[in-house]
Amino acid sequence: MTFPIGDMAPWLAALGHENVRVVRRNGRVVAGMGIIPMGHYFGGRSVPAGGITAVGVAPDQRGSGVGLFMLQLSLIEQQRQGAPIATLYPATTNFYRRSGFERAAHRIIYEVPLAGVGVRDYALDAAPAAPEEYALIKQLYAQKAAQSSALIDRPAFYWDNFLEPKTKRSYKFIVRRDGVPEGSVVFMHASFGEHLQVRDYVALTPAAGRRILTLLADHRSMVETMRVPGGANDGLLFLMPEQRHKAHWSLDLMLRVLDVAGALTARGYSPGVQAELHLDVDDALLPNNRGRFVLRLADGRGTVEKGGSGTLKLDARALAALYSGYLTSHELVAAGMLAAPPEALAAAGLMFAGPRPWLPDMF
Ligand SMILES: CC(C)(COP(=O)(O)OP(=O)(O)OC[C@H]1O[C@@H](n2cnc3c(N)ncnc32)[C@H](O)[C@@H]1OP(=O)(O)O)[C@@H](O)C(=O)NCCC(=O)NCCS
Repeated sequence: MTFPIGDMAPWLAALGHENVRVVRRNGRVVAGMGIIPMGHYFGGRSVPAGGITAVGVAPDQRGSGVGLFMLQLSLIEQQRQGAPIATLYPATTNFYRRSGFERAAHRIIYEVPLAGVGVRDYALDAAPAAPEEYALIKQLYAQKAAQSSALIDRPAFYWDNFLEPKTKRSYKFIVRRDGVPEGSVVFMHASFGEHLQVRDYVALTPAAGRRILTLLADHRSMVETMRVPGGANDGLLFLMPEQRHKAHWSLDLMLRVLDVAGALTARGYSPGVQAELHLDVDDALLPNNRGRFVLRLADGRGTVEKGGSGTLKLDARALAALYSGYLTSHELVAAGMLAAPPEALAAAGLMFAGPRPWLPDMF
């Protein structure tokens, strides 16, 4: 009942059966989930991640502990295989919090009346992209992702899903200044009365953002509204002169740190920050993560060693929200999830500062 009939089989085939886990009871499959090998960008580096998807327990087996059992076994397996983090979109947030996941990035679908976009800027060229130019769209995305927090390092089948979707047509445009690409946008075909669904966009410059908004708004004679994925304080919508957008839908991505030292060293940090943080981590599920760690930052990279004074006390959930930049150290104190003296709080605030985490992809 969780997934539309017909959608599951192709999704699992694309994922690969080796990435699917099931629980059997007396020979019958009673629960299953998939793990997409991918990455999330933090501080300019792609951190390898297991993207958990299609979690389901047979209705008559729910509430028996099988969901928790399957999830936790999979997290232990992923940690053993060396994945630093795991992520997912929760149907039920609290269920995943029980296993150390915490909200870590926004995915907001904004709805904007096309007549209210208010941007008309044709300074750059916008032209349809031919299949030979898909590589360029991917390069532009990689540039954007490197400047972002949480955008995913897309597996090939993700790209295929929206560059050449099977059920609907998608339109791809590249925005150029004097032949040099500065942005791209991918949106789905919309008929009269439907919303224009933007699947992805890259605006490396404000001029590219304005050209993309103009291109989308130029559909207003046929289509009244667009839906566009974005983050909190969204940068594209900030270019509009008026606040005519509203949030149509939102669900936060959740993140689980599987390997404290591995996750902290895999991401990038602001090159200007040179600092040291002494963490004391509590992790009820994964014993290797428990205890004291010292994180040192220099030249945009982090090194970790065990030990130290453990002045910043937090659990796996708080670490997930801090790691991604979803909550600051001060916000985590206010949530009752972190304790530290003022100097350590300030250092943590600086060390994990970065763009607000958001992503357009659902999985
Ligand atoms: C969500 C789901 C996977 C949970 O699996 P389950 O086997 O029923 O859960 P468990 O029996 O292992 O429950 C473990 C704990 O989580 C809690 N929990 C389970 N489902 C919950 C829900 N929907 N909301 C809040 N808490 C929930 C249980 O109460 C239990 O806590 P307790 O030990 O204090 O009683 C299952 O209900 C399901 O398949 N739902 C439909 C599909 C779905 O929502 N998938 C998630 C997509 S990401």
